[in-house]
Amino acid sequence: MNTLHLSREETARAAELLRQGGLVGIPTETVYGLGANGLDGEAVSRIFAAKGRPQDNPLILHIPGPEWLERYCQNIPQTAYRLAEAFWPGPLTMILPRKSMVPDAVTAGLDTVGMRCPSHPVCRAILLAADVPVAAPSGNTSGRPSPTTAADMAEDMDGKIDAIVDGGPCSVGVESTIVDLTCTPPRLLRPGGVTLEQLEQVLGQVAVDPAVTRLMGAGERPRAPGMKYRHYAPKAPVTVVAGAGETSAAYIAAHAAPGDGVICFDEFASQFPQQVVRTVGPARDTEEQARHIFQALRAFDHTQVTAIWAQCPDSRGLGLAVANRLNKAAGFQIISV
Ligand code: TXA
Ligand code: MG
Repeated sequence: MNTLHLSREETARAAELLRQGGLVGIPTETVYGLGANGLDGEAVSRIFAAKGRPQDNPLILHIPGPEWLERYCQNIPQTAYRLAEAFWPGPLTMILPRKSMVPDAVTAGLDTVGMRCPSHPVCRAILLAADVPVAAPSGNTSGRPSPTTAADMAEDMDGKIDAIVDGGPCSVGVESTIVDLTCTPPRLLRPGGVTLEQLEQVLGQVAVDPAVTRLMGAGERPRAPGMKYRHYAPKAPVTVVAGAGETSAAYIAAHAAPGDGVICFDEFASQFPQQVVRTVGPARDTEEQARHIFQALRAFDHTQVTAIWAQCPDSRGLGLAVANRLNKAAGFQIISV
């Protein structure tokens, strides 16, 4: 089976494929998603097969606006609408009690469902034309870094899905923030494009799920099932070096072998003349880092490096999401300096 490569203008075709039960790569502002009609359990099951995704890991539904929430969710708290007003369309997913019409294939049998309203204009055009909620995980093979370009998605999915729509590089670069509104206080399950500080401005107190910042122990179950898996991982093992930029750069320069991979902030690139270097942006610019982090992790799979070292931002603002992706890629192998 060949994968169609569609231009951003061919949204009607993509929508038709989705309505017919096809699998379509869709651009969003966060990462590319692997979409299927979220009301068609069989189509949704094919997402799991294409990704090699564990069956117990639920999918989120993409909708064009908060007015669709009531179709698929019940007992919706007012806070959902306040968050939607502040951050939708945009990189925020809310976990809400689901209605029974949502197929079990989407929710992996949970009584909740993740709802997201993306801002990417091509994605919005597809959602409106399809006129169904679109179930879409990130468009990578399970465990690999998420794709932030159509080419990255094709690398993982060509031949396994019906089409990919090219909407250009993703503007956020890390996946949506997930907040669980079925508990008190609301709980951050995955840091992403909307920061914890922004959530707190609307919600007041927000709990942070332990899976965001540390490895889950045997028998522990994070509230977002996907947070328990090794994720975002290139083939070579990653070691994160956390601390001030100068200090972490010096540590890596002292410990990396010639030929090792290094993910670093722009201003430190020259300190690694014998290593394979990928820069992600200036040390202070976490937005830029978020846009490049997945491509940096992916790039090493096209090289011979056998170990990767990474500088890591602190947890303010988008830094929490960038650090989370790096720490997960490293299996929480973190050296604090
Ligand atoms: O930015 C994004 O959210 C991207 C784009 C394509 O929209 N999608 C995405 O989906 O990242 P995925 O499947 O790769 O990650 C969704 C995460 C998983 O960790 C999953 O376990 C969690 O959301 N999740 C989904 N439904 C849930 C639920 N009902 N309760 C708790 N966690 C849930
Ligand atoms: Mg994913």
